[in-house]
Amino acid sequence: MAQPQRVLFVCLGNICRSPLAEGVFRQLCERHGAPVEVESAGTGAYHVGEAPDRRMRQTARRHGVDIEHLRARQAVAADFDRFDLILAMDRNNLQNLKAIAPTNARATLKLFRDFDPTPGDGDVPDPYYGSGDGFEHVYTIVERTSQALLRQLS
Ligand code: 4NP
Repeated sequence: MAQPQRVLFVCLGNICRSPLAEGVFRQLCERHGAPVEVESAGTGAYHVGEAPDRRMRQTARRHGVDIEHLRARQAVAADFDRFDLILAMDRNNLQNLKAIAPTNARATLKLFRDFDPTPGDGDVPDPYYGSGDGFEHVYTIVERTSQALLRQLS
C-alpha cells in the first residue's frame, strides 16, 4: 500500500480507545518523520466536545503521550473522502462505519487490529465500564499495533 497521508481512528465514544490511538500513532509518525495526518472520531455522539476520559488521559501520560487537548467528535460520511485509511477499533465500530460509508468512498476501511501481529478477536476491548487494568491493556494493544501499522505504511 502506498503511504496514506491521512489516517482516522474510530471507536464508539471517541474518549478512550481512538484518542489514545491518535496520540500514540501521531507521536510515532513524528518520531519517524512520517508525513501522516492523524485524527480520531466516534460512531456515537454521546461525548461530542468532551476531552478524553480521565483514566485514559492518565494512562497516556504515564507512557509519555499527551492527549489532553483532544476533543471528541462524531464520524461522518465526509470522513470517507477526507481520509485515506479509516481504522475501526472494534467490529461493532466497523459495522457502524460501513453503515454510513458513501458508495465509491475514497478511504480504505479496516479493523485497527488487522495490523496487530497478535490480533486476538480483532477488537480493542472497550475499557469504559471495566476496571483500571483495562486502560493499560488498551495501551499495550494500541502501542504494539501502531508500531506495526507504521511499518506497513512506510
Ligand atoms: P471508547 O469508549 O469507545 O473507547 O471511547 C467508550 C466511551 C463511552 C461509552 C462507551 C465506550 N459510553 O457508552 O458512553
